[in-house]
Amino acid sequence: MSHDVVEKNIGLMAILVVIVISFGGLAEIVPLYFMEDTTKPVEGLKPYTAMQLEGRDIYIREACNACHSQMIRPFRAETERYGHYSVAGEFVYDHPFLWGSKRTGPDLARVGGRYSDDWHEAHLINPRDVVPESNMPTFGFLLRNELTGEDTPKKMKVLRTLGVPYTDADIAGAADAVKGKTEMKALIAYLQHLGTAVSIR
Ligand code: HEC
Repeated sequence: MSHDVVEKNIGLMAILVVIVISFGGLAEIVPLYFMEDTTKPVEGLKPYTAMQLEGRDIYIREACNACHSQMIRPFRAETERYGHYSVAGEFVYDHPFLWGSKRTGPDLARVGGRYSDDWHEAHLINPRDVVPESNMPTFGFLLRNELTGEDTPKKMKVLRTLGVPYTDADIAGAADAVKGKTEMKALIAYLQHLGTAVSIR
């Protein structure tokens, strides 16, 4: 009978639905913050070096993540193509995550070490030179842009407040590590690092 009241009152029903969904959400989401599987870095995971960190920011700036995901799902078709499925602990130092869901191009979660630096450079300058059917845009201009390293220490300090274990020495040496290097070099350093922390490849 009391159910009649709910069924006949859409406002009340909406409120009760929201309450039920909120509890369901909390029960699913809150434990993730306390489970070691999701909060502990996988063995061997290191924070990005200054070059890799700058490369990652270029990756975000150029919206590479709009066409490339970085998350291998635990399905046979994916693991056969890309390698071991992704695990949460690999991403503990990523702020923000770049998992993505759009795959105009292939997943890049484990692309590190798959190609040489020269291959990446040729591919970024003109993807068609190495993959004739490619529709990826060209990024040759990255060769002409040089990093100043001005903001690199600041970025690391902010990441440290989020729990990334950068040492004072890492931060002190960051600007010099990237100064004068091309954006191309930084981006490739980042790509070559992707997925390499884990032995489960
Ligand atoms: C418009 C969509 C698009 C954008 C934006 C894009 N890509 Fe791609 N990418 C592709 C496609 C499609 C392929 C597959 C063909 C090829 O290898 O070129 C690809 C392939 C790749 C590969 C080779 C992967 C493999 O396993 O063979 C790498 C590495 C790559 N892209 C990196 C990048 C980076 C870095 C950026 C940003 C600077 C970027 N892509 C931006 C579409 C895109």
